[in-house]
Amino acid sequence: MNTKVWAHRGASGYAPENTLEAFELAAKQKADGVELDVQLSKDGELVVIHDEIIDRVTDGKGKVKDYTVRELKSFKANQTHPEYANSVIPTLAEVYDLLKPTGLEINVELKTGIYFYPDIEKKLLKLAREKGMEEKLWYSSFNHYSLIRMKELEPSVRTGILYADGIVNVWDYAKKTVGADALHPLYYNIQYPGYLEKTRALGLKTHAWTVNEEADMKALTKAGIEAIITNYPDKARKIIQETGG
Ligand code: G3P
Ligand code: MG
Repeated sequence: MNTKVWAHRGASGYAPENTLEAFELAAKQKADGVELDVQLSKDGELVVIHDEIIDRVTDGKGKVKDYTVRELKSFKANQTHPEYANSVIPTLAEVYDLLKPTGLEINVELKTGIYFYPDIEKKLLKLAREKGMEEKLWYSSFNHYSLIRMKELEPSVRTGILYADGIVNVWDYAKKTVGADALHPLYYNIQYPGYLEKTRALGLKTHAWTVNEEADMKALTKAGIEAIITNYPDKARKIIQETGG
């Protein structure tokens, strides 16, 4: 059983989240994949940013959807890490170009919980085809309608349901209602009795977030979880090596 390390918003413990620099660092730290968040710009481009507004992660203000890509790129990523002072919001196409040669997996999280970005699902499928990335991608969302839509448009995509608090009979819900391939729980959920066993019995995988404490990384690796999503891919890699997971 090999537990994978997916870098949450890139190696975001060390570089500005969801930037090319954070993704590059994740590859250097020997992550198996990265997790990132996508939204649509005013001109309909897939852009990689977590919040619906740019205020927290850039020196600008306002909604992602009210700016063109060109405008979004004129803002500097937050200066929390002075060594990355020139980081900007990337497009998803740029991330695919950067990571394709590394072979890393990419967990694309559709941020469709607040704005139902028109045709974001179609755009994602089109870009994945154009860039030849289909085999490397997992799609997740807290908006499970988006995941159903992805499968309607392209049944071969891999999807995972994101959730935080307990969902009653999440296994049946994920498998039968959403048609998902994985559970993407806030990692506390795994303490429900028999969680990983039930998940595996249905052929589902578990990719838990956001696991930043070493004790939790160790416990989840020992339990044989399929992927740990973390801001610190280097720490998770070390623990998995030590644990033999
Ligand atoms: O995909 C895991 C995690 O990223 C979900 O929450 O808010 O960090 O996007 P959030
Ligand atoms: Mg996310």
